[in-house]
Amino acid sequence: MAQEDVFKKIVAHCKEYGFVFPSSDIYDGLAAVYDYGQNGVELKNNIKQYWWQSMVLLHDNIVGIDSAIFMHPTIWKASGHVDAFNDPLIDNRDSKKRYRADVLIEDEIAKYDDKIEKEVAKAAKRFKEDFDEAKYRATSPKVLELQEKREALHARYSAAMNAMDLNELRQIILDEEIVCPISGTRNWTEVRQFNLMFSTEMGSTADGAMKVYLRPETAQGIFVNYLNVQKTGRMKVPFGIAQIGKAFRNEIVARQFIFRMREFEQMEMQFFVRPGTEMEWFSKWKETRMKWHQALGFGADHYRFHDHEKLAHYANAATDVEFLMPFGFKEVEGIHSRTNFDLSQHEKYSGKSIKYFDPETNESYTPYVIETSIGVDRMFLSVMSAAYTEEQLENGETRVVLKLPAALAPVKLAVLPLVKKDGLPEKAREIVNDLKFHFNTIYDEKDSIGKRYRRQDAVGTPYCVTVDHDTLNDNCVTLRNRDTMQQERVAISDLNTIIADRVSITSLLKKLQ
Ligand code: GAP
Repeated sequence: MAQEDVFKKIVAHCKEYGFVFPSSDIYDGLAAVYDYGQNGVELKNNIKQYWWQSMVLLHDNIVGIDSAIFMHPTIWKASGHVDAFNDPLIDNRDSKKRYRADVLIEDEIAKYDDKIEKEVAKAAKRFKEDFDEAKYRATSPKVLELQEKREALHARYSAAMNAMDLNELRQIILDEEIVCPISGTRNWTEVRQFNLMFSTEMGSTADGAMKVYLRPETAQGIFVNYLNVQKTGRMKVPFGIAQIGKAFRNEIVARQFIFRMREFEQMEMQFFVRPGTEMEWFSKWKETRMKWHQALGFGADHYRFHDHEKLAHYANAATDVEFLMPFGFKEVEGIHSRTNFDLSQHEKYSGKSIKYFDPETNESYTPYVIETSIGVDRMFLSVMSAAYTEEQLENGETRVVLKLPAALAPVKLAVLPLVKKDGLPEKAREIVNDLKFHFNTIYDEKDSIGKRYRRQDAVGTPYCVTVDHDTLNDNCVTLRNRDTMQQERVAISDLNTIIADRVSITSLLKKLQ
């Protein structure tokens, strides 16, 4: 199946099974804003819990905070967001549609890549087992010509972006003869900078309302609280502050479902270190974070690092953790060595000293910062993409199963009475009432047992138990495993011991030690 179709199926599955709905659905939705349904919120909470506990529980030098979304507007001046948190935009005069100039050009570069891959695929088909792919790529005149054009465009584009040369970006669009996908014309406006922050007013206009922003990242709430936490928690460098919370960006090209949203959630951790030790900590955090991702068991081949070639002026190292989504390797998390830029800026703009006195070296300094920043929603999408499986069964049927890591699954156990009579529902409810204190357990009696199993497979429930007539005599149930579909007879009194450990967040955390 084409990857595009797989992605469409995942989006449809998210809606059909109560994971993700378009926001304001009955009003035809609101672009790039989504709501999480009854299963989505559980999966999302489990992802957040896994991250939070891996930071705050497993590290005795990391604590959490929960700062407000509204902050003093000068914070965003100090951080550089008011002046530089921009995207280059261009409008098509005929369709009146607005685009990100950089995305139009990146799509053009991707078209060269597609053409090259098609040439290689055609040749592979023609030459069959005699095909030497590396040699073909290195010698085919057609492939070499496409490659040369691609490289030239990429070099020109990178130079324009690095210099933020808006005229050059427009000229590239004209020279490449890029057309508007709606009108099909090349009637483009100039390229303009567009700030991504949402703003609103605080207080009544009569009082002289203040313009405030919806935070575009949670990190600044950590920076401006760094000294409060350091002092009240008597924290010693190196130490970290973790936070989970909403962030808002007025994304112009909002696409790929929950990959790029206007309202999203971040899990960020700022780790404050002694200047000069930051590269060592940067490597440690790269390793720690990759381990966190890989503990989910989707396979190491689903992840890679993408080191930034061009660094922001305040950073001295940066990398992305990329995940293999149905639309290719994409950034899920950023790990950045941000020097002392943010703290120094807040010191300058607030006029207050936020230096740290190091009792070990007897000196005062502004700590350097390693940041790990991951989007909850992107993480959610990566988990859904890796878990969604269509399996061909021996009887010819297809089963759709979400192979979620058990610790992240919304429901851990479904208890199913074989029939709705003879005391089986009462026995099943007894089991639910006992186990619901330990993990998320649900009761389901509607439809045939086969249909109920499929329903639980589709939402990723790792275990089902069936209560039958024998249960009333032997106090045993049939326990079914989601992935293997194997069934075993177990005593009701053993269920908690068998299931609890396998479905707990602790089982994941133990893999990180
Ligand atoms: N404090 C650093 C920071 O915000 P970023 O690379 O802009 O860095 C970090 O964002 C992470 O937040 C990204 O790796 C991504 O997972 C998530 N993210 C950023 N913009 C997003 C959006 N529009 N929709 C969903 N997630 C987003």
